[in-house]
Amino acid sequence: METPFNYGKLVSGELFINRNKEKEALKQNIRSHINTILISPRRWGKSSLVSNISSELQQNSKKIRCCFIDLFSVRDEEEFYQTYATELLKQTSTKWEDWVKNGKKFLSRVTPKFQFGLNPMSDFSISFNWEEINKDYDDILNLSEKISIEKNLHIVVCIDEFQNISHFQEPLIMQKKMRSVWQKHQISTYCLYGSKRHMLANIFENKSMPFYKFGDTMFLNKISTDHWIDFIIKQFNSTGKEINVNLARMIAERMEDHPYFVQLYAAATWKLTKRKCNQEIIDAALENIKEQYSIMYQRELDTLTNMQLNYLIAMIEGVKQFSSKQTLKKYNLGAQSNITRIRTSLEKKEILDFWGKTAEFTDPVFKIWLTDDYLK
Ligand SMILES: Nc1ncnc2c1ncn2[C@@H]1O[C@H](COP(=O)(O)OP(=O)(O)O)[C@@H](O)[C@H]1O
Ligand SMILES: [Mg+2]
Repeated sequence: METPFNYGKLVSGELFINRNKEKEALKQNIRSHINTILISPRRWGKSSLVSNISSELQQNSKKIRCCFIDLFSVRDEEEFYQTYATELLKQTSTKWEDWVKNGKKFLSRVTPKFQFGLNPMSDFSISFNWEEINKDYDDILNLSEKISIEKNLHIVVCIDEFQNISHFQEPLIMQKKMRSVWQKHQISTYCLYGSKRHMLANIFENKSMPFYKFGDTMFLNKISTDHWIDFIIKQFNSTGKEINVNLARMIAERMEDHPYFVQLYAAATWKLTKRKCNQEIIDAALENIKEQYSIMYQRELDTLTNMQLNYLIAMIEGVKQFSSKQTLKKYNLGAQSNITRIRTSLEKKEILDFWGKTAEFTDPVFKIWLTDDYLK
């Protein structure tokens, strides 16, 4: 039988729960042509959210067309333009002959070169001459608006992992180019999303940055324990298994309501459950997960300095104020001026997320492993 939980992939249908308010707000923005910036730590559900609302919007309106561009593996400006043009052309018509026709028509100043593989429907890409795009980049950045007008569509450009533009060689210039072209667009709408709160907040909320006030910023939160409890019980029941409220709550609480990890832990528990879940089963499932990850965790630990580790220990022991002399001394954190540096490096290593005023472990299982297995 297939697991009624899913982690690591986009979730939809009954595997996608709650988010009603966020869905409404995002849909409302898009319908009103308001750009949105969506931020949350990794694996809290941004991509799933955008994918779900895009299906709903497209079902309700033939005009709306959401185009997805993932910057996950896009490393520089040139690659950005190529991916951007390829995806926009591909996702706005169904015949590959049209991609070429439209490419030539809409990108007349930058002479695109088209490449096809064995299967033109899946294997298609565009490349440009760098000198030309460097000069006429607006030809590409205007693509969504030109196609919208020509085809009477409302194109929604959804760019995932947007924080990756900060790895481009000249991120600021790139942002200026994008902003200067996109802000003139009347029809096409932009939904830019990604993790790394600090980086994105700096791009969009800093007055001196090009993208300042480009759109509405939304911070995606976790999903509350009560929603998880209902979901876990329902998924067990729908596959002929049982779990009670307390155990379902324990799954969500142990994972601190983290969407990816709740689904992961629920799946592991479900697999071990023959018919009725009990305490031993959920404990065993957690042990399995820890065991599976322990080598990786050990390796991660080896990269930490003593002070970084001490900081994590202090967090586990509930310390919230790191500036007091007592804390600094008790946990051997050195001078107070160290604290910012320790935080920055733990955030860079993606061990901690600083979210609002609080910090938390990006991986709740790592925290449990550190507490129960390593520090004991
Ligand atoms: N609304 C949701 N309901 C249930 N599970 C979710 C939801 N959103 C995310 N998840 C869980 O979190 C995982 C990561 O979601 P994803 O959308 O890829 O996050 P992000 O784009 O923020 O990294 C999914 O595979 C799924 O297990
Ligand atoms: Mg994502």
